[in-house]
Amino acid sequence: MKIALLGFGTVGKGVYEIVKKVNMQTQNLSVSRILIRKGKESILPEMTDSVEEIVNDPEVDVVVEVMGGIEPAHTYILEALKHQKHVITANKAVIAKYLKEFNETAQQNKVKFYFEASVGGGIPWIQGLEKALRIDKVNSISGIFNGTSNYILDQMTKSNDSFNKVLENAQKLGYAEADPKADIDGLDVANKLCISADIAYDINISNRDELPIFGIRNIELKDIKYFEKKGYAVKLMGFTHQFGNQYDYVVEPALVEKHTLEANIADNYNLISLNGDTIGRLDFFGQGAGMFPTANAVVQDVLDIKEGKGHLERDFDQALEYDANLYKKDY
Ligand code: HSE
Repeated sequence: MKIALLGFGTVGKGVYEIVKKVNMQTQNLSVSRILIRKGKESILPEMTDSVEEIVNDPEVDVVVEVMGGIEPAHTYILEALKHQKHVITANKAVIAKYLKEFNETAQQNKVKFYFEASVGGGIPWIQGLEKALRIDKVNSISGIFNGTSNYILDQMTKSNDSFNKVLENAQKLGYAEADPKADIDGLDVANKLCISADIAYDINISNRDELPIFGIRNIELKDIKYFEKKGYAVKLMGFTHQFGNQYDYVVEPALVEKHTLEANIADNYNLISLNGDTIGRLDFFGQGAGMFPTANAVVQDVLDIKEGKGHLERDFDQALEYDANLYKKDY
């Protein structure tokens, strides 16, 4: 199976390394093409700056989009699907906006569009959620969806370092987005929550920008220390519930009692929990950010395609269009 990587940043490099390792275990995968930015020096024989060359290459089976951002990622993903390439992406911003279009285009072209790495990094959350949905109605989802903000809050508590110093470390460790605004202002959590809720409730949220989103930018060391003394940890969390055909969503820093699971999630780890009719509370825990955990989830999707294992096929004509303003009025 031949893979083309669109992007060679933290996650792209991780995929390249893991594929080399998996190959040694005779899975017969290889990265045959790597798209780099125009003007950037080509340091590997697989590198090209032409996306047309990649989508028109009959040998490429799967296109892995790990460039991030909305454009040109959105255009390139559509091009690849229309050229009947399977597409895998870790890019939650582009999926949160265009999931319906990508899924429909993939279905029309009889190829797969998988995105396990987009929520929860290395945690098999999308697959876990889809499995729960085979039996249950999922009534709520909550959790710590962002590794960078969790690392920042955790390190501030443990080391007494300032917000900015800890953020710099998170960037060095490859947890933060290129523009860390998405991590610290809650936008990354909102994207992941919307992707999860779309799948869980079978809806499309039309105006996601209207959802209530609060980040951790203004949290100071003294706030964390104050709440710690009172027996609480501060965590950036996303929550969504379904009540009949009504839904609520919020992204906000939450106070959690020290003895809870949430309070004890350290470093770049994520904890995502769902509540289903028969399964009850089900928790998914693991590294939510970083080169190898995220790349691992991408390569798992490649292997699923290779082995013909499926994700949930959705019928988008049946999905409800959901207007976030309806909710906002009541919030
Ligand atoms: N910047 C993201 C995070 C990466 O910190 O969680 C994984 O989505």
